[in-house]
Amino acid sequence: DRLPELLRAMPKAELHIHIEGSLEPELIFQLAQRNQVGLAYPDVDALRAAYAFTDLQSFLDIYYAGASVLLKEEDFFDMAMAYYRRAQADHVVHAEVFFDPQTHTARGVPFETVIRGLTRAKETAQRELGVSSELILCFLRHLSEDEAFATLEQALPWRDHFIGVGLDSSERGNPPEKFARVFAKCRELGLRLVAHAGEEGPASYIRSALDVLHAERIDHGVRCVEDPALVERLAAERVPLTVCPLSNVKLCVFPTMAQHNLATLLERGLCVTVNSDDPAYFGGYVNQNYLEAFAALPQLHAGHAYTLARNSLEASFASDADKARWI
Ligand code: HPA
Ligand code: ZN
Repeated sequence: DRLPELLRAMPKAELHIHIEGSLEPELIFQLAQRNQVGLAYPDVDALRAAYAFTDLQSFLDIYYAGASVLLKEEDFFDMAMAYYRRAQADHVVHAEVFFDPQTHTARGVPFETVIRGLTRAKETAQRELGVSSELILCFLRHLSEDEAFATLEQALPWRDHFIGVGLDSSERGNPPEKFARVFAKCRELGLRLVAHAGEEGPASYIRSALDVLHAERIDHGVRCVEDPALVERLAAERVPLTVCPLSNVKLCVFPTMAQHNLATLLERGLCVTVNSDDPAYFGGYVNQNYLEAFAALPQLHAGHAYTLARNSLEASFASDADKARWI
């Protein structure tokens, strides 16, 4: 069977990766020691053993705790370079990388430290690994819209260092409408717009992400199938969904990979992409997501593999010239 080799080797884009979610336990302990930060776990094995999640919030609690070791520009650089090396190994030619500034500024780490470290890694990855990338600033939706505005204010001197904004963290009870004004402002500024919606939240959050926030892509979006008219619209408008199969299984959005709706979404004609979300926490980088989904879903074959890879490149915010080189 040559399908696994095709999945590994085909050039692809990754459009849904939280850089803080690429922080491996080994690097967490290394940075904790370097920065003299105390951890609630005695060693790497004990930390990894805590990665048993029941829902999104149970993951977020441990994900924010892991990020507490990030203090210096070098820490953000090292974390991002480790991701870019893994992405290159998975034949990722282009990545659009989420970062959560509020997770860091809330601990007294200046925005400038975060963006300088990530930008230096982005430039190094392009130069030394041939991996192109963009940064997307995510607002934490469990915080207020005023706090999102304050973060945007801090980010504006660095406007040229990120391509757009997204919306992540606890979805339920934090609908897109809560961030209507700050997304309108970002739109005026010419920033690209994406939002997590329909991961744990209802299909109506996907509609609001499109109609209220004017999101150009939906992150996750798997619960769209609960609203057939919405599925029709997503297909007609070719709204990309950045689906993360391993994440969905680890966070119990689907009980098993065999029950994941990836094949259904493709069958309905949606512009689906496959991504890793938080690879250090969910059991693998982007190729592992392709491999496990295809292994568990017998309907998927080589044609779907090409479609998914082409979708990922097409749905990226890369230039038409770059897309023409890749597709
Ligand atoms: N959903 C919401 N917030 C997140 C996620 C996710 O999958 N990963 C990191 N922050
Ligand atoms: Zn995500």
